[in-house]
Amino acid sequence: MALRIDYTNMLAGAVSGGIPADAWAAAERDFAATHAAVKKLQGTGALGFLDLPRDKTLHDRSRDFAKAARGKFDDLVLLGIGGSALGPIALHAALNARDWNTLTKKERRGRPRFHVLDNVDPGTIAHVMGRVDLARTLFIVISKSGGTAETMAQYLIVRGALNEALGAKAGEHLVFVTDPEKGALRDIARQEGIAAVDIPPNVGGRFSVLSPVGILPAALLGVRTTPLLAGAADMARRCRAATLRENPGAVFGVLQWLADVHLHRGLHVLMPYSDPLRDVSDWFVQLWAESLGKHRAPDDAGVGPTPIASHGATDQHSQVQLFMEGTPNKTVSFIQVGEHPVDVAIPKLHQDVPELAYLGGHHLGELIDIERRATAGALARRGRPNLTIHLEHADEWHLGALIMLLEVATVYAGQLYGVNALNQPGVELGKQFTYAMLGRADAGAARREWETLPKPDPDASV
Ligand code: PA5
Repeated sequence: MALRIDYTNMLAGAVSGGIPADAWAAAERDFAATHAAVKKLQGTGALGFLDLPRDKTLHDRSRDFAKAARGKFDDLVLLGIGGSALGPIALHAALNARDWNTLTKKERRGRPRFHVLDNVDPGTIAHVMGRVDLARTLFIVISKSGGTAETMAQYLIVRGALNEALGAKAGEHLVFVTDPEKGALRDIARQEGIAAVDIPPNVGGRFSVLSPVGILPAALLGVRTTPLLAGAADMARRCRAATLRENPGAVFGVLQWLADVHLHRGLHVLMPYSDPLRDVSDWFVQLWAESLGKHRAPDDAGVGPTPIASHGATDQHSQVQLFMEGTPNKTVSFIQVGEHPVDVAIPKLHQDVPELAYLGGHHLGELIDIERRATAGALARRGRPNLTIHLEHADEWHLGALIMLLEVATVYAGQLYGVNALNQPGVELGKQFTYAMLGRADAGAARREWETLPKPDPDASV
């Protein structure tokens, strides 16, 4: 079992537009200070996500709930948004069959179908609510704060439907994943005796996938959560190293930061050459964007990279032209899977047709990897920095390691950018304006500020 980052193509020695040797050497020398700052942050208890892989009590709580729920439900509907949805989606997509909801119950090993409501588009919710049998459905409501408008609106809709259909038994079809003390969901759980599983107070939304936020739905869907957490624990251990070259999370964070500040390459593409890992990119986009895009402490300047989700080999026919020849403001991080659980041989047919003949006799696992290598090589040849994260398999262990790698990288990058990677003050004003327009009682100040905004100008409309 191994996860390895090959960053040859990030450095100027290999790629003309890469990170200069003296900048990399300085980063290695200066790493002691960054490492100490992250260690200090951990000492304050702020990095609760690092402890999740070893929290057996928390893990058991999810497993016990899943065990007790086994066989009772045909559908599992997740209500949540942002970090409360992207992690669970990525785990399910990576570790369960792609067409899960079309499998028979036997093929799903008795586990429920899975639906995620991570938006408030009325069509989606109406569709899902119209399709499930409420008497055979479990709704998992995930919200760290326990009060996010989108999730609470979904909850109210679901609760209304459950009350109407099942009366006093409505609560048996709900489980909350939320803060152990605070928030509306916790209060409702207490008052009504609804099952609730804790998100540790020091674990924020986008760092919560290895808490019950990701682990409870995964366990309900039959994912092997023990190796997932073991892979994460192994990576957390590796990321304690005080030498930059030995610390994979720090290497990823430092390289991306150097590319941004030295090379003005602040657009960071994550491109798994793997269908199961496709949704890991969306999860990473939220992690990298919401953690790093903010005002820097000393001078209040807006800083931070822009993450981009991509998917190989598919997006070779969509985005790669831009990566190859567009504005040189990007890095590309590939994810390679060493061994696929199944491989498919390409038959030797049409041997007289040159456009097809060369493919025959190869395997698709070989083809997808050759395409990744070819793209990485072509980018390098054009002076475009890139790296590859190699996973031996796209299994639970390696996915846990990959998640932890990117979470730790985010914390290191936060230190280097001079921002607090753990908060999200920039989304607050939009939230307050929403509350104001919906008439929330405590949103008076936001309502007054909203009213001072420029009104739509008819001359600026077409
Ligand atoms: O990373 C974060 O903290 C956010 O993106 C949250 O996950 C998102 O806003 C949802 O918040 P909550 O889980 O409190 O409903």
